Amino acid sequence: MASVIDILRERARRRAHRMVFDYIDGGADDEATLLENRSAFREYEIAFRVLAGIEQVDTTTSLFGQPMRYPFFFSSAAGNRLFHTQGEVAVCTVADELGIPYSLSTLASTSIEEIAALNTGPKFFQLYVWKDRGLLREMLERARAAKFNAMLLTVDFPVTGNRERDLSNGFTIPPKIGLRQALEAIRRPAWTWDYLTSPPIRYANLSGNVSATTLNQFVAEQLYCGFSWREAEWLLGEWNGPSGIKGVVQADDAVHAVATGFDCVIVSNHGGRQLDTSVPPLRALPTIADRVGSDAEIVLDGGVRRGTDILKAIALGARCVSFARPYLYGLAADGVAGVREAANFMAASLERDMMLAGVGTIGEITRDLVRLKVQSV
Ligand code: GLV
Repeated sequence: MASVIDILRERARRRAHRMVFDYIDGGADDEATLLENRSAFREYEIAFRVLAGIEQVDTTTSLFGQPMRYPFFFSSAAGNRLFHTQGEVAVCTVADELGIPYSLSTLASTSIEEIAALNTGPKFFQLYVWKDRGLLREMLERARAAKFNAMLLTVDFPVTGNRERDLSNGFTIPPKIGLRQALEAIRRPAWTWDYLTSPPIRYANLSGNVSATTLNQFVAEQLYCGFSWREAEWLLGEWNGPSGIKGVVQADDAVHAVATGFDCVIVSNHGGRQLDTSVPPLRALPTIADRVGSDAEIVLDGGVRRGTDILKAIALGARCVSFARPYLYGLAADGVAGVREAANFMAASLERDMMLAGVGTIGEITRDLVRLKVQSV
């Protein structure tokens, strides 16, 4: 059956320019990981508890010591204004309404300072490593000055994954509108009107305008692919605050991350957008939780679409989850109202599923709540 997220996806497909929808929706190579991230959740069943005497569930938790009304947050994504003119402002507004942290991408189309002026709750700054160390320091300084509560270093992006939909659509940031794109733009009038009547889309945290370029070119030119653990240690010294590492699936890497000084490990393969056939985060999670769960906070990112997915991730050792496509479909479908619809759906389905599973608090979601399908109860 179609969930609210499936419906928002379909509405996004109908409203947004094809290259924009495909950028959100697509993955790398054959998109095998994209599908596996999702299907990994089906490998587990919930051994629900009964007669637990729960009249109301309490979904609150925290990350980096910051309170969260729900155990999820929106994973940062580049250039939100490409999807809808309300862009990052819409996403940040809904995060505040819902009492969850907001996380801003290095490659956002809204600046660190604009978000700081708007946001009222906790906020995280996602970092890519620039070749230009001066720029790297300047971004950290700006995030610190704007009172971002934590820095999330993304490490699964030394180069851009092979996203064949983007290549075939001629996708660039900002969009370059050639004949093919113009024809498609005519078929998507709402998106096109937005695009033509709002301020130009740009990487708002970079000074100066970057001309339209593919993500591959931009990343190859601007980001530093040779970053190592030793440099990560240097970076943590520069930031000198709460930090997470995003894009880990190897337990040994998680151990290394904790030894280097990261407070949080985000188990993720970048939504299947980088290395295809890589390990789905849910399958990597239990071992990582066993190895570092008592020393670091763990976030599961990838394939989360329903409340039961959140339950399973927490049962297997995550403190909370993050997701991007559900709210990006909402944004592309209907701006702030679409993001709100996606977020409310996730919140309501988690509340209902906690009741059905017989757990009253996040702390009661323990490993015995889930079983691999092959085991008998
Ligand atoms: C950027 O982070 C992307 O996945 O396109």
